[in-house]
Amino acid sequence: MKWKISLSELNFDQREQKVVDQVIKRKWLTMGETVERLEADFAAFAGAKHAVALSSGTAALHLAMIASGIKPGDEVIAPSLSFVASSNAILYAGARPVFVDVTALDDFNLSCEDVERKITARTKAIMVVHYGGYLADMERIKKIARSHRLFIIEDSAHAIGADLNSKMAGTLGDAGCFSFFSNKNMATGEGGMIVTNSGRLAKKLKLLRSHGMTSMTLNRFRGHAHSYDVVDLGYNYRMTEISAALGILQLKKLPGANRKREMLTDQYLAHLRGTEGLSIPFQDYPRKSSYHLFPILLNRKVSRKKFMGLLKKEGIQSSIHYQPIHKFSYYRKNLRGRQGRLPLTEHVGAHEVTLPLYPLLKKKEVAFVCQKVKKTLPEAQR
Ligand SMILES: Cc1ncc(COP(=O)(O)O)c(C=O)c1O
Repeated sequence: MKWKISLSELNFDQREQKVVDQVIKRKWLTMGETVERLEADFAAFAGAKHAVALSSGTAALHLAMIASGIKPGDEVIAPSLSFVASSNAILYAGARPVFVDVTALDDFNLSCEDVERKITARTKAIMVVHYGGYLADMERIKKIARSHRLFIIEDSAHAIGADLNSKMAGTLGDAGCFSFFSNKNMATGEGGMIVTNSGRLAKKLKLLRSHGMTSMTLNRFRGHAHSYDVVDLGYNYRMTEISAALGILQLKKLPGANRKREMLTDQYLAHLRGTEGLSIPFQDYPRKSSYHLFPILLNRKVSRKKFMGLLKKEGIQSSIHYQPIHKFSYYRKNLRGRQGRLPLTEHVGAHEVTLPLYPLLKKKEVAFVCQKVKKTLPEAQR
């Protein structure tokens, strides 16, 4: 299918081509000096003491769980309105995700009241997801975590560059996990990062990402070591030099790209605010978002299937963020009826639509999408 306007597009030009060529010429393809440079750049950008590069955001979430000591029998509180990787990471560690509802129909981040209600003696951590790049209420979450001695893992896959009082998303809890998947604000194909201020955690993460080995292939190549020990059960979650080279460049482009996303979001708001048949979450968001997604919520009278089908006919790609995780068959089986209803999450899961948003989108394309949204809404009534 050839879209007139796709949901997201890479913010790439000939510079990305050039840095990939340079890596190939250097003839060292995995976890070397380029990865080390990306880690240093990312730590400086985020204002964190340590940044550990990984093969994906999912790997980052998995290792954050294990390095925080989450074990079988533990419970981790998490939103159901997220990508399934957020809670899969909890299951990988053998722990149980306890899902909480969203705050409101205009704030799709996890509800602090529901977090407090669901804390038990087994709760060890809160997995916070900053939906669409809009920060969850971290001041309150931190208070709750402090009083119950819980870890905070921030799934900041959407939130690269979002901040709270000049502190970046990902540095507000104990470990912040990022994704550089192709549709993210910073894209390297596959890739991820964890930031933390804990030296102990960073050391453990570095061990775990490469089989629990005490020396790396690069150290041996440089002649700094010729043997190694295996001191933990690790994984192969290493980042390639190609991803890291793309990451360094994408990180340089990020502030400008996020400003463009902000400008386009403002334009969407100017066109769609007050439109009958839909509402827009995070409209009066007071902080700096990374504007990863532009979500809208259709009212009950509009058929989402018809609406998305009509947009498709106009050549406009749209998507859903998200189908609630607790409703997936695997999770229903795994949770064995222990998960109660999450009414707001289920409502958002049934009525949300995400419209195209990426830095190379043009103002006239946003105007075109909005014109078609307004035309389509009455036609898509049930
Ligand atoms: C909220 C969220 N968490 C985690 C992930 C997983 O990241 P990755 O695809 O890099 O493994 C994604 C990305 O798709 C995501 O959107």
